[in-house]
Amino acid sequence: MSKESLWLSIVEDIKSCKLCRLSSYRTNAVPGEGPLNASIVFVGEAPGKSEDLAGRPFVGAAGKLLTELLESNGIRREEVFITNVVKCRPPDNRDPFEDEVSACSIHTNKIVELIRPSMIVTLGNHSGRYFFEVLGGIKWYGVKRARGKVYKLRILGNDVVLIPTYHPAAALYNPKVREELEEDFKLIVNTYNELSKPKPTQEKRKTLLDFMK
Ligand code: URA
Repeated sequence: MSKESLWLSIVEDIKSCKLCRLSSYRTNAVPGEGPLNASIVFVGEAPGKSEDLAGRPFVGAAGKLLTELLESNGIRREEVFITNVVKCRPPDNRDPFEDEVSACSIHTNKIVELIRPSMIVTLGNHSGRYFFEVLGGIKWYGVKRARGKVYKLRILGNDVVLIPTYHPAAALYNPKVREELEEDFKLIVNTYNELSKPKPTQEKRKTLLDFMK
């Protein structure tokens, strides 16, 4: 099966999913969007009202900030893949419960396995906890403590560079968080550019024949 067909079947599974109570509240499920060969995946928390209506991730106020942080650092939003640990909107925008993150992980994991990114950025505590503790086997002490660093983890059988940061919504009304989020985006983009650089080709080893020419 091609990557595109696999993606369409994941989308269908998510749209018809009833694995947790959130399915009964959704207008639209929000599987995620972006190129299937993206080398970086951003994982947020859960769709809000705008995302539930549009069926697309990060299209509300937090999404505008995410797009701004990417584009002011030279990355187009269209070149990254964006999803959430929970694909349906929790009622009244409450935080997702752990059993909902866990039920949705069947879809989250399939998305990560399909895209096989070299880098994952977790936005906020729910996504950070899932990727660090559940998938990476590393204790999660909260985003405040974990942020600002680059972690190399083995996630679902692949080596991945993981950078945890705040959820953009947390920065909307908090200038200190906004400042730290901006710092983290510089780290994210520098690491991304470093990983995307072609590796210097090794000089070919000379053989005896080269010296006889
Ligand atoms: N917040 C999230 O975590 N995800 C979205 O898609 C929108 C807002």
